[in-house]
Amino acid sequence: MDQFLKEVLHDLSETPKRLNSKYFYDEKGDKLFQEIMNCPEYYPTDCEMEIFRERTGDLAVTLKNGFNTFDLVELGAGDATKSSYLLKELMDMQVDFTYMPIDISSGMVDYLEQELPRKIDGLKVQGLNGEYFEMLEKANEISGRKKVVLMLGGNIGNETPENALAFCRNIRSVLQEGDLVLVGFDLKKNPGIVLSAYNDAAGFTRDFNLNLLQRINTELGGNFDRTQFEHYPTYDPASGACKSYLISKKDQVVTISGQQFHFQESEFIYMEISQKYSVEETEQMAGISGFKTVNHFFDHKKWFVDTVWQCI
Ligand code: AVJ
Repeated sequence: MDQFLKEVLHDLSETPKRLNSKYFYDEKGDKLFQEIMNCPEYYPTDCEMEIFRERTGDLAVTLKNGFNTFDLVELGAGDATKSSYLLKELMDMQVDFTYMPIDISSGMVDYLEQELPRKIDGLKVQGLNGEYFEMLEKANEISGRKKVVLMLGGNIGNETPENALAFCRNIRSVLQEGDLVLVGFDLKKNPGIVLSAYNDAAGFTRDFNLNLLQRINTELGGNFDRTQFEHYPTYDPASGACKSYLISKKDQVVTISGQQFHFQESEFIYMEISQKYSVEETEQMAGISGFKTVNHFFDHKKWFVDTVWQCI
């Protein structure tokens, strides 16, 4: 059975019901996420863009870290808008490195291999299309050079703190002592600011969540009526957990691939976590997973951090 179908049937059979936000990103979902990033309320992209634009020189020096030559691996590179600043800077510094973007989208990887060397003269690009860990291992097979791994966008926030820790340990296990990792974390801040970012006035975040119901209908033969579910975003300033739910507006039965799911009125589906951290919490995570913190790069409001860790 298809992985997507298998997971959806499993997750909607759980109590409480849930869905996995990694499935938000079909073609429509990609577009909605673009709209979210352009919303005035959604600050993380702007913050991290500022860091890459304004602190490029310092970032490049920290990541070069005295290595003569290395591979710069990016997990979930996307269109590499932010990292391009860094790539250009490293080229200007005449650093000998290969950029290895890893992405689940083969179209994206092809695009980067084609376009980046045109935009940044002389840049060596070795794209890796697939899952993070398999591709990291492949990167190690392709070259035994030192690795510098980028994980931007606060994507680690889509894991619970417990799973994020396990993820960092896994990353550490495929790297060597001395290798570097740069991770983007969205930081705890005024709760109203966080909540607004996941409850934009234009409703793109709502549609982003509801779109997964639509995707289940079209790809898995479901019959969700998306007008009968309501977007409910939450933020808990104590734990830093920003969670979104879809609430059933009435008693209803939804059929997916022949299987029936009953929703009571006001029953929720847990859709996504976007975990926020304190700087201390990121340092603890580094320590527990086998890294030491080398440097922090903040935007001017200190709303977001790109933290640099070294494998110990
Ligand atoms: C792409 C995971 C960083 O959690 O902030 C944006 C996704 N979800 N609005 C985030 C998202 C709702 C985003 N990340």
